[in-house]
Amino acid sequence: MSAPAPPPSHTPSPENPPSTSQLSEVRAAISSLLSQPSYDDGSAGPVLVRLAWHSAGTFDKATHSGGSNGAGMRWESEGGDPANAGLQHARAFLEPIKHQFPWITYSDLWTLAAVVAIEAMGGPHIEWKGGRTDFADESDKRIPPRGRLPDGSKGADHLRWIFYRMGFNDQEIVALSGAHNLGRCHADRSGFDGKWVNNPTRFSNQYFRLLLANDWKKKTLDNGVEQFVYVDEDTLQDVREANDGKEPSAEEIEEATLMMLPSDMALLDDAKMRVWVEKYAKDKDLFFDHFAKVFAKLMELGIQRDANGNVINTDNVRDGYKSAPKKSDRPTAPEKDQNKGQIGHEAAVLKEQNREKWAKL
Ligand code: HEM
Repeated sequence: MSAPAPPPSHTPSPENPPSTSQLSEVRAAISSLLSQPSYDDGSAGPVLVRLAWHSAGTFDKATHSGGSNGAGMRWESEGGDPANAGLQHARAFLEPIKHQFPWITYSDLWTLAAVVAIEAMGGPHIEWKGGRTDFADESDKRIPPRGRLPDGSKGADHLRWIFYRMGFNDQEIVALSGAHNLGRCHADRSGFDGKWVNNPTRFSNQYFRLLLANDWKKKTLDNGVEQFVYVDEDTLQDVREANDGKEPSAEEIEEATLMMLPSDMALLDDAKMRVWVEKYAKDKDLFFDHFAKVFAKLMELGIQRDANGNVINTDNVRDGYKSAPKKSDRPTAPEKDQNKGQIGHEAAVLKEQNREKWAKL
């Protein structure tokens, strides 16, 4: 694979951000890797969205620390936060793009990948601005401490505590939670298991409609984790019809089972948040409009700009648009393979897939 460097006059810096045509090429390259037939539901999109959100969601407005600058998840201190388990897949998916466009910072690449993925999955266009820089090494004091991301087993008080710290309000918490229309939970990453909606690679407001419409039942999984589940009878009926009336197999029942985290259910239980669940369930356009605004705000956490959109964080201006050298093509966190069912086990599979893929290049 060739690695075209931008012309010297376009080497990005805070004063000379990547040109529109450079970014269009990166956007196109991201779009072309979204389809991943052997991964999850055939798409890298959802996990890329989660990577960007976790890179930004460490922001603390009181100390102005954390946020989408720096791409600190490249190192164990942030990448190894249990909340970030599984995101090595997303980082590894983007390595070929970093190889192709070495000038882009990881922090810009991760955030850009999410907005490209959301739009490609049928979601709204989200305004995105570049200019984030990469921290040089793991000793950088700007890498946020672990523990700043939300816990799915908790309720509305916890959500407020976490998201108010970043500067969001109740409406924004609900709009952001609508991202759970995408992707799934993995028992060997978070302990939770399953998808929220029938089609987890198509962005819509179905998450809110299901939250309100279904009779969610608490279920304790084999690993002791509690979540809420609902078996979609329409899907089971389709299976019966397709199989000449034969009852669905255990696998087919699992496929028809949808889930909610306790933190998703909290949006229903809290009167102020529920108002927004109801609005978004009824009005997809309103949800898309609010989601586009709040996701753009999320991606900007920790970034300060002047009126022209140039990043003016003191460190960014001092150090320039510092793009970190490309990381290894192997997933880097966690370092040790673990047993099946433990966080990190999946890294072994990915490591092998990457080894084979890169051996061919
Ligand atoms: C409200 C608090 C939130 C909690 C407690 C929470 C928790 C979780 C958990 C436990 C998972 C499953 C991880 C796994 O097992 O792989 C997950 C997945 C996901 N979350 Fe959230 N999340 C929250 C907010 C958000 C926000 C704000 C976004 C983006 C705007 C988001 C986007 C996603 C996506 C796209 C996935 C699927 C990832 C995949 O398929 O690999 N979440 N979340």
